Amino acid sequence: MKASLMMLLAPLAALAAPANEPRQATQSIDKLIKAKGKLYFGTCTDQNRLTAGKNAAIIEANFGQVTPENSMKWESINNKKGTYSWGTADYLVNWATERNKTIRGHTFVWHSQLAGWVSQIRDKATLTSTIQEHITTVMTRYKGKIYGWDVINEMFNEDGSLRSSVFSNVLGEDFVGIAFKAARAADPGAKLYINDYNLDSPSAAKLTKGMVDHVKKWLAAGIPIDGIGTQGHISAGGGNNLAAAIKALAVAGVAEVAVTELDIQGNGSNDYVTITKGCLAEPKCVGITVWGVRDNDSWRPSGNPLLFDSSYAPKAAYNAIVAALQ
Ligand SMILES: *[C@@H]1O[C@H](CO)[C@@H](O)[C@H](O)[C@H]1NC(C)=O
Ligand SMILES: *[C@@H]1O[C@H](CO)[C@@H](O)[C@H](O)[C@H]1NC(C)=O
Ligand SMILES: *[C@@H]1O[C@H](CO)[C@@H](O)[C@H](O)[C@H]1NC(C)=O
Repeated sequence: MKASLMMLLAPLAALAAPANEPRQATQSIDKLIKAKGKLYFGTCTDQNRLTAGKNAAIIEANFGQVTPENSMKWESINNKKGTYSWGTADYLVNWATERNKTIRGHTFVWHSQLAGWVSQIRDKATLTSTIQEHITTVMTRYKGKIYGWDVINEMFNEDGSLRSSVFSNVLGEDFVGIAFKAARAADPGAKLYINDYNLDSPSAAKLTKGMVDHVKKWLAAGIPIDGIGTQGHISAGGGNNLAAAIKALAVAGVAEVAVTELDIQGNGSNDYVTITKGCLAEPKCVGITVWGVRDNDSWRPSGNPLLFDSSYAPKAAYNAIVAALQ
């Protein structure tokens, strides 16, 4: 554009969108996916984000569900035996409840971001009662306010075997039933999920031999698992495989599946659209959660994997999802 024309148009552009006011998303992807029969389009957040920048406004306008990014992890909420730190988790739950946002609780039994005192337990009875007490205490506090919980997170190896952790090392597979049964008893209305990453292709051993085979077996044994979460931290071009994986997980016999932590390297729109359509195409898929709002707040920012840029403007990928849902 010629400089003179730019100078002529600049004041008009400034009127339409002042430089310090980023473009707003024209439509809520949450409203649009609900209109298609799904429960939510969500994101992760926590007090530190909700009180900074435009995160709260963006989430209010565009997302219908929140997952606490860190505040409910074992090391955050119960880092000392017998002591619970509720502050940041309460903030998230209150913020969401006041705004009628669905909450996914995250997470109970996980080898990472675990409290040191739990990792040191070596006998079955103590670890069993520790899992039961932790799940019961946290779920009771938020009873009726949380749609679903990631009761177990990331328990499989890539070959489908059980990951070595304090839980599997001390209790074998029994920790699965212990955790899910405690969760069902604590809040019978909450959906109970098993969640993992690299469930991104229908033929991955972690999905077939790991998640699907084990969940079928555990359901047959009466363990109350309602849903499978696939995190969806994927690379550019992975959309088709993840969409197919959503279907492959649904055949495990669970009532529902969800994409729980989606972020896609490569700044592209097509993968987001493909996965959104993949969820629409699977009746058991209840919704999609992206892992963050802004690209530069992502845990892997170099691939620009989210739906908003660093000035909180919706990216092409956001608008492509809107178009796909209309
Ligand atoms: C709250 O959200 C639920 C689920 O999306 C919806 O059915 C209900 O109408 C909403 N209530 C209000 C007061 O917005
Ligand atoms: C890629 O990501 C950057 C950083 O968030 C953003 O400024 C840019 O608009 C994105 N490109 C597309 C095509 O979305
Ligand atoms: C993200 O980008 C914004 C705008 O450029 C900047 O103010 C902020 O400090 C960045 N945050 C991170 C974590 O890099």
